[in-house]
Amino acid sequence: MSEIRTPQAGDDAAPDDDVVALLMRQHGDIRNLFDEVEAAEGDARKEAFRRLVRLLAVHETAEEEVVHPYVRRNVTGGEEVVAARLAEERSAKETLSALDEMDTADPKFMPQLLALRADVQEHARAEERYEFVHIRRGTDAATLASLAKGVKAAEAMAPTRPHPGVESAAANVALGPVAALMDRTRDAVRKAMGRD
Ligand SMILES: [Fe+2]
Ligand SMILES: [Fe+2]
Repeated sequence: MSEIRTPQAGDDAAPDDDVVALLMRQHGDIRNLFDEVEAAEGDARKEAFRRLVRLLAVHETAEEEVVHPYVRRNVTGGEEVVAARLAEERSAKETLSALDEMDTADPKFMPQLLALRADVQEHARAEERYEFVHIRRGTDAATLASLAKGVKAAEAMAPTRPHPGVESAAANVALGPVAALMDRTRDAVRKAMGRD
């Protein structure tokens, strides 16, 4: 059976120089990881959930640093659009932090996870409709590529799956709490965008 492989940031075979394509792929990865967490049990669930937490953390941080500021400046009505997205992200982050402190075997874990999933899905759809469409319509390729740089720097902080030989499962777990990862991601994005 041939493996279906999701391109990783920094993967030479996948230039990922369109910020919208990159973020849409992350939305797909997030959806798949929710599926994985739901389907898994025991340690496998724990491990899949760690990957989901990391991807959500870096994805939302990248959007806060790269996408929302751009939409605010360049899309008509951008202020309101971004305010609504930030409110959604704030509430998702609260649920995520609460879940992150919970044992994945806790009977309350699954209902909370499903609630988070619903919120995250709705948020992603709103981004696609009110932000991504407008970014793609009004942005030249060079700008899309420079925005993609920031998103790739964020994604490199949380590879969707472990890179063999580069990162052990233990190193993945040792990344620490969500808030700390978001801080480190923010720094990496700003550096990549030449804003530090
Ligand atoms: Fe977002
Ligand atoms: Fe998003």
